[in-house]
This record gives sequence, structure tokens and C-alpha cells, in this order.
Amino acid sequence: MRRLEGKVAIVTGGAGGIGSATAHRLTSEGARVAVADIDLPRAREVARAVGSDAIAVQYDAADAASIQSLVETTIKHYGRLDILHNNAAITAPEKQSQDTTAVDIPFEIWELTLRVNLTSYLAASKYALPHMIAQGSGASFIYRENNSRYIGVQYSIEGRDLQRAVEEGQWLPGRAAGW
Ligand SMILES: NC(=O)c1ccc[n+]([C@@H]2O[C@H](COP(=O)([O-])OP(=O)(O)OC[C@H]3O[C@@H](n4cnc5c(N)ncnc54)[C@H](O)[C@@H]3O)[C@@H](O)[C@H]2O)c1
Repeated sequence: MRRLEGKVAIVTGGAGGIGSATAHRLTSEGARVAVADIDLPRAREVARAVGSDAIAVQYDAADAASIQSLVETTIKHYGRLDILHNNAAITAPEKQSQDTTAVDIPFEIWELTLRVNLTSYLAASKYALPHMIAQGSGASFIYRENNSRYIGVQYSIEGRDLQRAVEEGQWLPGRAAGW
């Protein structure tokens, strides 16, 4: 039996490189996957390629209501949620190239990067956790640290991740290993 048979996963940024590879890997282990991304056409392509009951869901990681809707849509479709891969991030070169220094970074880029690369991870966890706890069958969070240069968002994520692990369960070092 495959390790994730019967499990349901959300992969944010699922249309991208790491997200699509994760969707493939989770599916190969038996999970059903919601490929979630702002880019619906590419998310659909990934869902089609992954097969095995995968769905594409468009959402905007900068918008908490959209994240809540992503979680609800997934649970409505599959009836449960077991795995959340927080992976979406601003990677577009025209935006990343402005993520520079305290002097040069535009406030819009700072605010957007915080919303997409950090707050969205908290929001997805906030909306997913109550369902996972109610299911009572365990849950997995996979966090992908982001590349933000000046903001150093990855360190915030690791700190918050550790705190959540202490509150909710177990800290698994190397949680994103190989993905
Ligand atoms: N590739 C690397 O070497 C590397 C290294 C360290 C960390 N990371 C991190 O891994 C994650 C994935 O990286 P990747 O290389 O697969 O990037 P990618 O650009 O291939 O994928 C990122 C995905 O996020 C989506 N996205 C962007 N803004 C969004 C929004 N507002 N709402 C919903 N989706 C949105 C994009 O459409 C894209 O599909 C990112 O968090 C990145 O910072 C990547």
C-alpha cells in the first residue's frame, strides 16, 4: 500500500517547479491533490499531468479570503484535508529584482512579499488546522522557505513553524527535504 493512500493534499504554488514536482510525488504515494495557484491555466496543466483525481484551484495568496476559499473548496470536493504544502511565493523576476535593500525596496514590494511569502502561510494553516484537528487522524504541514533577499522571510517562517510544531505536534527537521 502506498504511504498516502486516502490522504488529501493542498499544494500552493502548485503550478510552479517545486509545487508541480511535489504534486507528482504526493500523487505517486496515493494522495489526491489540489493544485493551487494564481495561474489557473498552468495549474490545470499540472493537475491533468498528475491525474489521479487531482484538481486545479485558482487562488491569490495575497488575499486571506481567497485562501479560506481554497481550503473550503478542497474540503468540499474531497471531503477531507490531511496535508498542506505552503510553497507559493513571489518569484517573478520583475518583482524579485525590486526586493533589494532597506534603502531601495519599494513599500509595495515589501507589503506584497510579506502577504504572499509569509502571511499566506499563516492564513492557510489557520483555515486548514481546525478541519485537520476535527478529523482526528493527524496532519502534515510542509513549508517551503522563500527566497526573499532583504526581507529574510525564511527565518520568520522557520521560527513560526517551530512554534506551531510545539503547539500542535511534532517538529520534523528536513520537512522539505528533496522537494
Ligand atoms: N527554486 C529554488 O531553488 C528555491 C530555493 C529556495 C526556496 N525556494 C522557494 O520554493 C518555493 C517554490 O519555488 P519554485 O522554484 O517552484 O518557484 P516557481 O516560480 O516555479 O513557483 C512559484 C509559484 O507560486 C505561484 N504564485 C506566485 N504568486 C502567487 C499568488 N499571489 N497566489 C498564488 N500563487 C502564486 C506562481 O504562479 C508559481 O506557480 C518558493 O517559495 C521559493 O521561494 C525555491
